[in-house]
Amino acid sequence: MSNGDVSTVLRDGSDEREQVDRLDQKDNFTIPVAERVLRLPPYLFGKINEIKYKKRRAGVDIIDLGMGNPTDPPDPQIVEKLCEAVQDPRNHRYSASAGILNLRREVAVQYDRRHGVKLDPHTEVIATIGSKEGFSHMCLAMLGPGDTCIVPAPSFPIHVYSPALASANVLQIDVTKPDFFLSEISHICDTLYPKPKIVIVNFPHNPSSTTIEKDFYVDLVRLAKKYQFYVLSDFAYADIFYDGYVPPSFLAVPGAKEVGVEFTTMSKGYNMAGWRIGYCVGNKEMVKALATIKGYYDYGIFQAIQIASIIALRHAEHARLAMSAEYQMRRDVLVNGLRKGGWEIDPPRAGMFVWAKIPQYWREKMGSIDLAMKLLEEAAVAASPGRGFGPSGEDYLRLAIVENEQRLKQAVRQINRCLKVEPAVQT
Ligand SMILES: Cc1ncc(COP(=O)(O)O)c(C=O)c1O
Repeated sequence: MSNGDVSTVLRDGSDEREQVDRLDQKDNFTIPVAERVLRLPPYLFGKINEIKYKKRRAGVDIIDLGMGNPTDPPDPQIVEKLCEAVQDPRNHRYSASAGILNLRREVAVQYDRRHGVKLDPHTEVIATIGSKEGFSHMCLAMLGPGDTCIVPAPSFPIHVYSPALASANVLQIDVTKPDFFLSEISHICDTLYPKPKIVIVNFPHNPSSTTIEKDFYVDLVRLAKKYQFYVLSDFAYADIFYDGYVPPSFLAVPGAKEVGVEFTTMSKGYNMAGWRIGYCVGNKEMVKALATIKGYYDYGIFQAIQIASIIALRHAEHARLAMSAEYQMRRDVLVNGLRKGGWEIDPPRAGMFVWAKIPQYWREKMGSIDLAMKLLEEAAVAASPGRGFGPSGEDYLRLAIVENEQRLKQAVRQINRCLKVEPAVQT
């Protein structure tokens, strides 16, 4: 009946037998997906994204401050280089998984110039498919069952779920008071057995916009050496800073390279979020472990993107700085506008977010998820509810300053109109 070709078998089988086989499969085929997938909590932004999508389809103009996803284009010379590189037939093959050497060299040059950090491009720099990919695969490379990881709270979800997906335990520490964060690390290391293996830091912090000075990292490196843990520094917002503040690199502290790595990205400062390119630099052994994992999982970033990124790093500093100045102006528009509506907000010194404490009147009435829903439904403004970043974010909304000045002013008007309360009850 069969010559071994599946299509021949199907053609020759009776319709009824096929039907029964299909029913059988539907009823009995209950093999679960992996435990690590089942352990993931429901996606808290799912409902909001669904409403946002429906409203947009219905023609509503949503002002989207929900995600740190830049709306401005990259500098033209970066795009031109990409177009040129795409025309070159040599750039369409699989690329080097760790990134082409010229790109890794350029990253090392920039780290030296901007942060005074010397890196060996052969062993201490690796290109990643966005910093999120690098970060999560580094967790897979370094963590396993029984390991513990310290994470800042409130938490950028990947900081919690990458260790969790690597089967590690997660301990969250309030990051909004950096001195407390350090003292809690000491306390945990003194009392917990086995001690944490990794501490994750992320300054400027998403979502809380907390920043630190270099001294913080001096203390962190001392603790890492004393208690023997590794540090993962997520430096995604290295390029966006205000009022003369410059966020320090963790690696700029003597000895940091012995205890950790740092992740940076082209997504934010260079408006290249969709291109998916970032870097992991620092400790040789950790970079090597990440390279090993990546060697199995991917074939590297499209080479044309890597070539255009060299041009971005080398020649687009003016655009990066101009973008930072633009974000500062937008921050002022949003913070000043919301303050007029009764919000008490500390203006961030860096990053792309305003972490806005919800006015007391509304805090007492509803949680951050319901408030974000209300703003989406009634003010046509999308914001991220603080609860999406863990319980400690409950009293906040996170607003990304990714829309232009006019649209931010419009957003402020719509938010303030929607949440207007009688002066007698406003606090
Ligand atoms: C703290 C933080 N780390 C990492 C990322 C991911 O950036 P990338 O586009 O480089 O993957 C983001 C993006 O929002 C972020 O906020």
